[in-house]
Amino acid sequence: MAQTTILTGQILSFTRSPFTGDPKDAARLDEAVVISDGVILAIGNAAELRARHPEAALHDYRDKVILAGFIDPHVHYPQTAMIASWGKRLIDWLNTYTFPEEMKFCDPDYAARIAARYLDLTTAQGTTTMSSFCTIHSESVDALMREAQARGQRIVAGKTCMDRNAPDGLRDTAQSAYDDSKALLRRWHGVDRLSYAITPRFSPTSTPEQLEALGALWAEHPDCLMQTHLSEQTDEIEWVRSLFPDARDYLDTYEAFGLLGANGMYGHAIHLEPRERDRLREVDAALVHCPTSNTFIGSGLFDMAGLVADGHRIGLATDTGGGSSFSMLRTMAAAYEVGQLRGTALHPAQLIWLATVGSAQSLNMADKIGNIAPGMEADLVILDLASTPAIAQRSDCADDLWDAIFPTIMMGDDRAIDSVWIGGTQVSG
Ligand code: GUN
Ligand code: ZN
Repeated sequence: MAQTTILTGQILSFTRSPFTGDPKDAARLDEAVVISDGVILAIGNAAELRARHPEAALHDYRDKVILAGFIDPHVHYPQTAMIASWGKRLIDWLNTYTFPEEMKFCDPDYAARIAARYLDLTTAQGTTTMSSFCTIHSESVDALMREAQARGQRIVAGKTCMDRNAPDGLRDTAQSAYDDSKALLRRWHGVDRLSYAITPRFSPTSTPEQLEALGALWAEHPDCLMQTHLSEQTDEIEWVRSLFPDARDYLDTYEAFGLLGANGMYGHAIHLEPRERDRLREVDAALVHCPTSNTFIGSGLFDMAGLVADGHRIGLATDTGGGSSFSMLRTMAAAYEVGQLRGTALHPAQLIWLATVGSAQSLNMADKIGNIAPGMEADLVILDLASTPAIAQRSDCADDLWDAIFPTIMMGDDRAIDSVWIGGTQVSG
């Protein structure tokens, strides 16, 4: 029989979206969570659950907060080693820093080393699931999938396809992008907790032929996610206009080739035209907000309040290594700051929800991950709300739990991550 485990602490789970109604009442607090065979069996009163499961192993986290593991729905794991590279905007940044680094992933040993380093770094930050762009090399997908599989993680990854406007050694073709993506999808999609995402980098680095080929592949495998970039910087949008003179707008360069749908994830989505917003909403596509990247590369301020009000599905992501941090706490803080610059203060419940349930929804996986409820997979992060003297003295005088969590969101780092559980197994702490 599977080992049953009970974790006690302040179990925080969401009962509804904190973007509708008072955010303070969107969550419930329980004393204990029971897990078995990688899945959550029950949440509730500690004494009752202990009486019901006398055989269970106990982990008492006292006043620490137990949340669903953080979910990062837009990252580039191959950019781990060049994160925080100075002084460029998007196109120059790609050419100067990103492409030379991504070139190294033709070497499977290098890819395996960075995949392991990336998953070590993100686990230390409490991130249990991510959706990663890889490089054009199939080896880069194999490396991340193998490493995540060994760790029992639920992840999404895809080969980044580019057949133009990229240097020699970093281009595929329409046909090879289709063939290699299909082979990888067959190898990894649905294996253990792994999923494949069809991944055109962005329309400037794909010919219409490549976009069409990937649209055809998605039509053959509509249950797969499709991830790409959309309307990140104004220079990029101008470039797209010149490369696709017949397109109505940036989104149309995907839409025209069958790359718009409810399993589509569109990173950044900052400078959207009204038609683009309407279409994205109509098809229920997911938008992914990458606030540390958008400030670091100087891209702009995502319209969280307006897009939520219009009913868009939105995830929150680091965009490593355009983003300047591996931490979802730091990413929540940046989302708060961007919200302030646009005139909306996001509530701590909304920030935590975005990094868990919202990001799970952006992956269409909210039935499996992103919350703590019976039947959900047991990926958990345990937060210490007094991880540094500065945070402790502030949370000490908090009015309620949200007020106690907010200083950790704004000032916390990996020291606030007490422990991490993946698939019902403690992996750190
Ligand atoms: N647009 C196309 N590729 C990338 C990338 O790697 N990072 C970011 N931030 N934007 C992109
Ligand atoms: Zn990106």
